Amino acid sequence: MCGIVGYAGNRDALSIIIGGLESLEYRGYDSAGVSVLEAGAIETTRATGKLSELKKVLSTKKRNGTASLGIGHTRWATHGRPTETNAHPHTAGRVSLIHNGIIENYLPLRAMLEGKGCVFLSETDTEVAAHLLNTLLAEGLEPLDAMREMCSKVKGSYAFLAIDSNNPDRVLVAKNSTPIIIGRGDEENLIASDIPAVLQHTRRILVLEDGDLAEVTASSVYIENGGKQVSRTEETISWDPITAQKGGFKHFMLKEIHDQARVVGDTLRGRISEHDASVKLPELDALRGKASSLKRIVMVACGTAWHACLEGKFFIEEFAGIPCEVDYASEFRYRSRLIDSDTLVIAVSQSGETLDTLGALECAAGKGPTLAICNVVGASICRKAEMVMYTHAGPEISVASTKAFTTQLVALQLLALFLAEARGTMSAAARRNVLHAVLELPAALSQTLKVDSEVAVVAKKFFQARDFLFLGRGRCYPIALEGALKLKEISYIHAEGYPAGEMKHGPIALIDENMPVVMILQREKPLFEKTLSNLKEVEARGARVIVVTDASEEDLKGVATQGLIRVPFVSSELSPILLNVPLQMLAYHVAVLNGTDVDLPRNLAKSVTVE
Ligand code: G6P
Repeated sequence: MCGIVGYAGNRDALSIIIGGLESLEYRGYDSAGVSVLEAGAIETTRATGKLSELKKVLSTKKRNGTASLGIGHTRWATHGRPTETNAHPHTAGRVSLIHNGIIENYLPLRAMLEGKGCVFLSETDTEVAAHLLNTLLAEGLEPLDAMREMCSKVKGSYAFLAIDSNNPDRVLVAKNSTPIIIGRGDEENLIASDIPAVLQHTRRILVLEDGDLAEVTASSVYIENGGKQVSRTEETISWDPITAQKGGFKHFMLKEIHDQARVVGDTLRGRISEHDASVKLPELDALRGKASSLKRIVMVACGTAWHACLEGKFFIEEFAGIPCEVDYASEFRYRSRLIDSDTLVIAVSQSGETLDTLGALECAAGKGPTLAICNVVGASICRKAEMVMYTHAGPEISVASTKAFTTQLVALQLLALFLAEARGTMSAAARRNVLHAVLELPAALSQTLKVDSEVAVVAKKFFQARDFLFLGRGRCYPIALEGALKLKEISYIHAEGYPAGEMKHGPIALIDENMPVVMILQREKPLFEKTLSNLKEVEARGARVIVVTDASEEDLKGVATQGLIRVPFVSSELSPILLNVPLQMLAYHVAVLNGTDVDLPRNLAKSVTVE
């Protein structure tokens, strides 16, 4: 998501910070800013857009000598639009502060601080942290004590960097659930959200852990956790800068596949209240009152997001009992649509800029309620829709969508539960069961990611095939479609996704010993047995079958395959999310073995802004 760089040393902090931020540009951002200590005073500069815009503003500013301490940030908007006032650093009194993450309780904190006379200038959650820290310092607390106290008051995820004009030799650091590293140099130290930001200056890295607080000067790094001093092992990084940008992975796609366990945590953060088994979506307050009268939901999207809608239909119909239709945005635009005030139109889009999805939303505007489920804050689709629910997947660089899809499914699951609660179609006990499973997702995804090496072996066996068939039933049918799309997008191998039960009405004619069939086999009864029968049908015709399943070893006895990938079982509703991951990996490994450009496949674009 956002990028962070801090510096304490003897060289020009400004150019080092800007250089560090430039090496994080690949992560995507929409505004940037720096604060440096010049002649004892904090000088802050911010700008919307790219770092080049910030540099332009900086070049027109008169400087009071050279600064040797400072902090800088590239912001990827989460709370509040990508404007200059929302850009970091945020300043309050003697403090300037930057933040990656989300402060969940920022609204009550803001009200409390406003009550004490603090004046807020931005729409961000971050500004409360700057005011809190400044207030605590003004009360006489030592810098690190103030930072510790501030962190004890905020709920959520954070990597904070702060500077205090009364203590001009140090950068204060705090970390919880959001990465932060310290780069050790000679009479200088750097702090950053990612390793690439410091590699130009040092390869000696300390990785901070959750709960760590640090005070960094040019010559020292003090770290504590739980009130006690701790030491973190120094690692020496041997990666080249490009590999470093990809977090050590060979491609962005692989990195993003592996990001999924973490980003699903971001999608869920602050949205689940366990005690009353409810989903907190204040951004959908306007929908709560209308939920009971909704007669129909129409979902529109393109590509992978369209597959997410197909899955979302299962969630919403099952939990909230509202009939759902799913349409390709490009089709929806040019047919009779029969939308009225009791129809909710949901547009799902990673980028929020896909022209067809935007056009579909425009067709629905003014007829009934509209909702965007989107990853990029402030994108055109978000501005067009009446309500917006963000997926918080962070920037997705690889053209083939992976983590954006997974977080769309999680967001749709939350939406279904929200609607079910508002309509009274699910008891608290039933909601609690589902929510327990949802909360297990990050850990289950981490577990699922371990099948990568097994999938790589399967890919080696099959990468030369000319065609692939992906089959699944029920909730696994959209996953079959997504698995086939992923494979064709990046490996250029023809692949089709089909409902397993429908295969006998056509595609079965294609099956012979040259056709790999990927069978997505969910353990849920009765579809398990039904899909197993379909598996036997293809096997009998000589197909080479790969099974991706969450079934137990016991259930799979007697099932002969040329590749068996098992993922953990969390719940029937959530199985598709986990079963999809090996398919992403299969597409990735097959593409790598075929030598295609994985992150930038031919003819495709990340964001399609033409019809
Ligand atoms: C393009 C991308 C796909 C994506 C689709 C919809 O075709 O290559 O990966 O699924 O657009 O994009 P959106 O940003 O609206 O989700």
